[in-house]
Amino acid sequence: MYVVLLGPPGAGKGSQAPILAERLGGVHISTGDMLRAALKNGTPFGLKAKAYMERGDLVPDDIVLGMLIERLEQADASESAVLDGFPRNLFQAEQLDRALEEAGKGVSCAVNVRVPTDILVERLAGRWTCSRCGSIYHEQFRPPKQAGVCDNCGGELRQRADDRREAVERRLEVYQQETAPLIEFYRSSQRLVDVDGDQAPERVTWELLAAMERCQPV
Ligand code: AP5
Repeated sequence: MYVVLLGPPGAGKGSQAPILAERLGGVHISTGDMLRAALKNGTPFGLKAKAYMERGDLVPDDIVLGMLIERLEQADASESAVLDGFPRNLFQAEQLDRALEEAGKGVSCAVNVRVPTDILVERLAGRWTCSRCGSIYHEQFRPPKQAGVCDNCGGELRQRADDRREAVERRLEVYQQETAPLIEFYRSSQRLVDVDGDQAPERVTWELLAAMERCQPV
């Protein structure tokens, strides 16, 4: 089963997706993580994406689509996946439907994680991410046991370059313009499920798992 996690920056997609993927028996695919890895490794894709990401703009579709389709063709994604941060606009959503349809598959549902804007800003300003394993923390809402050190692997915690105030503002604007229309796209094909993301993380997980139970396998 393929599940799309929709929601603005800071909604909790990256925190929740690995838990959902594990429960689904599939993989967590985050285009944001893939792009950050490409950037870190200095690949041509990463170097092209850098300026867009730092500004808070979407990376051009051809770069992201090529990367995502290639990832979906790998063996561990052949049955199930939780897509986090993809699709981000109508073109990507249509291309995803087309690629899965060609393989006799489809997106079972899109879960829209709703969180008020002032909460999103607070979450992004206090986010710290492990530079080694990618675990996500918040200085107030999910602090690590030792400041600056990952509880899971001991890696160094860092703040993301695009969590600067100007980039956050731009990301929220881009979300409204480009990504929010996907709510209607999936609603009109009866694939949308809504979840209140402004609750304790464990409660959000519980509601997401319950929402996934209602998704129809394609
Ligand atoms: P991406 O990495 O996808 O970022 P995003 O969508 O902006 O989402 P975030 O990762 O910022 O937030 P999240 O919802 O995952 O929240 P998190 O769980 O971390 O994209 C980055 C960039 O890459 C884009 O701007 C674009 O340039 C490019 N890109 C990526 N995909 C693309 C695509 N398809 N097309 C084109 N360009 C693309 O949580 C945030 C914080 O809140 C954490 O500190 C966490 O601990 C805390 N938190 C989470 N849940 C709760 C809760 N319930 N209560 C309290 N705190 C919580």
